[in-house]
Amino acid sequence: MSEAFDVIVIGAGPGGYVCAIRAAQLGLKVACVEKRATLGGTCLNVGCIPSKALLQSSEHYEEALHKLADHGVQVGGVTLDLARMQARKGEVVASNVKGIEFLFKKNKVTWLKGAGRIVSPGRVAVDGTEYETKHIVIATGSESIPLPGVEVDEKRVVTSTGGLELSEVPKHLVVIGGGYIGLELGSVWRRLGAEVTVVEFLDRLVPAMDTEVGKAFERVLGKQGFKFRLKTKVTGAKVDADGVDLTLEPAAGGAAETLRADVVLLAIGRRPYLAGLGLEEAGVALDERGRVATDGHFATNVPGIWAIGDAIAGPMLAHKAEEEGVALAEQLVGQKPHLNPLTIPGVVYTWPEVASVGETEEMLKARGQGYKVGKFPFTANGRARAMGELDGFVKLLADDKTDRLLGAHIIGPDAGTLIAEIALAMEFGASSEDVARTCHAHPSLNEAVKEAALAVAGRALHI
Ligand code: FAD
Ligand code: NAI
Repeated sequence: MSEAFDVIVIGAGPGGYVCAIRAAQLGLKVACVEKRATLGGTCLNVGCIPSKALLQSSEHYEEALHKLADHGVQVGGVTLDLARMQARKGEVVASNVKGIEFLFKKNKVTWLKGAGRIVSPGRVAVDGTEYETKHIVIATGSESIPLPGVEVDEKRVVTSTGGLELSEVPKHLVVIGGGYIGLELGSVWRRLGAEVTVVEFLDRLVPAMDTEVGKAFERVLGKQGFKFRLKTKVTGAKVDADGVDLTLEPAAGGAAETLRADVVLLAIGRRPYLAGLGLEEAGVALDERGRVATDGHFATNVPGIWAIGDAIAGPMLAHKAEEEGVALAEQLVGQKPHLNPLTIPGVVYTWPEVASVGETEEMLKARGQGYKVGKFPFTANGRARAMGELDGFVKLLADDKTDRLLGAHIIGPDAGTLIAEIALAMEFGASSEDVARTCHAHPSLNEAVKEAALAVAGRALHI
């Protein structure tokens, strides 16, 4: 038996590395097991960070091609240097993952390099060496869900990992799944010149989104050139030397057709990654969807074994994993943290961005909650007009009796930043009037949020 710890966290993604740092801050002796060559998990290596780097770069390219002239900025001979764009993405990732290594050193978190396996409660093996610990935290994240009949080779048929690495712009990219990954990576490759078709099983994009915002989103992306095949399923993929033949069928069943693609991006969701972790031997129970079952306070059914992040229930988002990591670390030293699942924002980093927090109109209807709606379009916001970014609106939902904010749904420029104001307001239990009476700087996009709050009471000023 080697060194002993208070906490061993398995997995160094946003859930695991943040949990490890917070536990160390609180005085615990912590190790974090990571088998990848770099820290930061899916998010920093093959998820949030590289996708946002490519989204940013491709936005610049599209601006130079199509938007700057309208501002009186003439740029001739714009060409794409995809190799440089990919290299920059690599640099962004490298500096982020090195940053986590620095934070581990600063906080005296030991990185145990290798694959971790739970031997029994209180014992973790890392590539053959066993360590003793009071607490084990499962933070092993997720992997993309496979689709029968569509074999991933990460070249012609890719998951997000291969979709971030393409060295040529495909002529026709077919995305299976109209969710977060499909629309973000679809946007990257569309901006760089690909024709993009999204095949979605359901009748709408990002199904959990507020329906009104979802419809506006579909319209805006359609205007940009996205093609959508909704209510359609993919039943097979045949790869040949220069492309892929996909077989499509109506979701409800019916005649099959073939769709030719240069590259296919499979993005139909993610599932917990728990392979080789020894959960069965340790007796750790899973829920009906194959996630580690927890009690709402991150405890599994086995005392001393905890789980957070994508490996458990809830939205598969980096900031959700981080908050859980912090809360669990604080719990382990006897504090009583509280997380409100209704104030976790979700952002799709397309352009315009789509952001939401709290409940959708459909959720409120389903639970019989009375509500008022306040809406304000970016066409009536001075800053948006100055930017030339007029697509979208802010929609706020408030309790019809108490005026307490219940949800916010924004499609528009920088929606992902704007949503933070409402997340904070909801965390404080604010009413729409609280937001409406707060002085917002002029001219700012945030004024659209204030106007939507005024609109809840039927008193928006600028429309
Ligand atoms: P992960 O980040 O998956 O980390 C788990 C780590 O555990 C991995 O490094 C893995 O190697 C390691 N591991 C697994 N098993 C073992 C083992 N037995 N031993 C040792 N190590 C092990 N979320 C957002 O909030 N915003 C975004 O913009 C966003 N963009 C995304 C873009 C893409 C393309 C993808 C795929 C995801 C994106 N996400 C985004 C989701 C986000 O990446 C996840 O929600 C987040 O990474 C979950 O964190 P985690 O710590 O639970 O797991
Ligand atoms: P997703 O759950 O967002 O979307 C999957 C889509 O595929 C859904 O619309 C679903 O109806 C559809 N679908 C399912 N089966 C299908 C089938 N057989 N054929 C056609 N369509 C099918 O999943 P995605 O895009 O793979 O992303 C996984 C997760 O990663 C997201 O849910 C999110 O939690 C996270 N993520 C977050 C981002 C962000 O915060 N900006 C960006 C990227 C990923």
